[in-house]
Amino acid sequence: MLDEKLLVELSAEKQYPIFINFDLIENLEKSVFNYTKANKILLVVSEKVNKIYGGKLNFKNSIKYVLKDGERQKNLKNYQRILNFALKNKLERKDAIVAIGGGVVGDISGFVAATYLRGIDFIQIPTTLLACVDSSVGGKVGINTDFGKNMVGAFYQPKAVFCNLNFLKTLDERQFKTGLSEVIKYAFIEKSCQAGYEYNFFEFLEKNSDKILSRDEEVLAKIIKISLELKASVVAKDEKEQGLRKILNFGHTLGHAIEKVTNYKKYTHGEAVAIGMNFAISLACKKGLITEEYKNQSFELIKKYNLVGKTPKFNQKKLIDAMYSDKKVEDGKIKFILPIRKASAECLDFNPEDFY
Ligand SMILES: NC(=O)c1ccc[n+]([C@@H]2O[C@H](COP(=O)([O-])OP(=O)(O)OC[C@H]3O[C@@H](n4cnc5c(N)ncnc54)[C@H](O)[C@@H]3O)[C@@H](O)[C@H]2O)c1
Repeated sequence: MLDEKLLVELSAEKQYPIFINFDLIENLEKSVFNYTKANKILLVVSEKVNKIYGGKLNFKNSIKYVLKDGERQKNLKNYQRILNFALKNKLERKDAIVAIGGGVVGDISGFVAATYLRGIDFIQIPTTLLACVDSSVGGKVGINTDFGKNMVGAFYQPKAVFCNLNFLKTLDERQFKTGLSEVIKYAFIEKSCQAGYEYNFFEFLEKNSDKILSRDEEVLAKIIKISLELKASVVAKDEKEQGLRKILNFGHTLGHAIEKVTNYKKYTHGEAVAIGMNFAISLACKKGLITEEYKNQSFELIKKYNLVGKTPKFNQKKLIDAMYSDKKVEDGKIKFILPIRKASAECLDFNPEDFY
């Protein structure tokens, strides 16, 4: 059975492991204590995960904060509530926070860990596909505000990431597909990640859609490993998103705007990103960056996984305004990641008029 260990190597002194396996969930407690000297652990767990797995997540000397489900929970109020919970329970500097859940739990509790007593140990146990392949690795932590997605946050790396793929068995179809959206993203940027390997991930995802959609364990483990290797290689080269790391935002400039204008209710993050990827592909073709053939091949790949139904009509002005209040705006220009050839993408500047 699969038992992989990858390393995120930020520098010789700063690195951390990602474990990918189908281990017993009860074993996580022991594994976590190998990566922190904490006396006390604050577990931050999503409501649904706690309902399903709470009984198996009994860490010694731990206190538990259960976060309600949903993107809208990744907010300032809950950030403060978790901080107060930690303070009330007298978590000390050498103690640790362990996030058990999807990207929402990972992002908000990572931000608490980054700021509590100026930073305490943080460990990620991702339980959604999206969190396994993306949000648990790379150190981006934060919360949403009324002004947009992830507008307050930090770069704060975990001590270790434990991707126990047994969790994925209870993900509902919608959440599973949401994660696939971030997996498919890597197919469009593989060569730009400069990982030093050739996976031909685009073709792999084209050929194996049936197995992936039926959650074949071997294939699932493979796409998770490839996604993580690509992400780890990008983060190692550009931890703070000064350049290369921006390509991981493929589909996200519009995706974040869609989440914001629909009040984080209508679409999951992955669904919004899938709409964003389709848009970026169209725009790239319109600008002559990619061929009509690659555009159609790309649309086909996204369609195979049925990530979003029909692309809805949005109020264009609202979307552009939302994109303008994003972190990705520099010198008044919107940063857009566009495909430039098969499996490669580039970060380009756009003005509002370019979208009409
Ligand atoms: N930090 C980063 O680098 C990064 C990257 C990508 C996305 N994100 C963020 O991640 C978030 C989206 O994460 P998500 O898609 O994991 O959503 P999520 O965290 O909202 O989880 C989705 C739902 O699935 C439930 N769930 C979790 N694990 C489960 C399991 N094993 N079985 C059954 N149900 C389970 C959760 O309780 C929740 O209701 C967004 O806020 C996005 O901005 C962050």
